[in-house]
Amino acid sequence: MTTLLEIADYRLAFDTFDGTHHVLDGIDLRLDAGETLGVVGETGCGKSVLARSLLQLNPSPPARVVSGAIRFRGEDLLRLEEAALRRLRGRAIAMVFQDPASYLNPLLAVATQMEDAIRGQDSAAGGRPRPRRAARALAAELLSAVGLPEPQRLLASHPHQLSGGMRQRVLIAMALAGEPALLVADEPTTALDVTVQAQVLALIDGLVRARGLALMLISHDLGVVSASCARVAVMYAGTVVEEAPTPELIARPLHPYAQGLIAAVPDLGRPEAKPRGMPGSIPSLLHPPSGCRFHPRCPLASERCRVEKPLRRTLLPGRSVACHHATP
Ligand SMILES: Nc1ncnc2c1ncn2[C@@H]1O[C@H](COP(=O)(O)OP(=O)(O)OP(=O)(O)O)[C@@H](O)[C@H]1O
Ligand SMILES: [Mg+2]
Repeated sequence: MTTLLEIADYRLAFDTFDGTHHVLDGIDLRLDAGETLGVVGETGCGKSVLARSLLQLNPSPPARVVSGAIRFRGEDLLRLEEAALRRLRGRAIAMVFQDPASYLNPLLAVATQMEDAIRGQDSAAGGRPRPRRAARALAAELLSAVGLPEPQRLLASHPHQLSGGMRQRVLIAMALAGEPALLVADEPTTALDVTVQAQVLALIDGLVRARGLALMLISHDLGVVSASCARVAVMYAGTVVEEAPTPELIARPLHPYAQGLIAAVPDLGRPEAKPRGMPGSIPSLLHPPSGCRFHPRCPLASERCRVEKPLRRTLLPGRSVACHHATP
């Protein structure tokens, strides 16, 4: 397998009026071509900031890269010029976000928006945009690929005439227009009801397999990523605390935070089951805890945890954990 994406010791801060928020604190992750990785963690742990980092979509200022590299096919995205980044957006790496309504223009027909997206991809690739009619034919093809019947009728509709699930499918279809190698989906189903959520996840699954895409699926819900992703990275307060093959993580989490997260989900097979929540609250990223950022909530915390940040170490084949006390 060839490495598609490699995030190495990536630190990102936000400089705001109240001070510097140390949001991402040394992220290390890699993804091979065609691989699926889930990223889970509580609200505010930095999942969306990480997703946006891949295409430099965090507004800067206030965002400031403190250190690290984000290599895509060996090229450091942090060093690319804006024009080069534009070429990557959508073509090499495509994103789907949580709220389909806010990414579609209510005033324009679906056809116009999809044609614009497709022709925009043509220009970004350095070519001439294909004629509208050709773009429309591809749009219809893509809508069929995402399981939407009667693409012609749909193309003539406006976003408000579609259900939330249909809108999300339209956005996924648009994401496919540039034939990306990596699809980053940030809470793609959170705004949808449970049945539709399952359908959209199954769709993403099918597309990833059929097209050999790599997938980074971000969710606060381990149930969501466990169905679609072979590996999971658990984030806590801007760090990856554990990374493991999904079934192994669920069967036996090694990091105390991952243990709490999994214990909080009563039945991973039932997405409608309410999580119980974990004691303690999310730490401030303006004044993050010293040492291990999880230590104030950790049942295993010792003096060492208060002073020394644990590095992620491999405890079992394919499994790494950032904890001074975790054992295989
Ligand atoms: N533009 C910004 N300026 C300042 N701080 C920001 C900015 N964007 C994000 N942050 C901060 O970065 C932290 C991580 O936010 P992020 O949106 O990545 O969380 P998340 O894990 O995606 O949470 P959720 O599950 O709620 O989507 C938060 O503390 C947030 O306030
Ligand atoms: Mg988010």
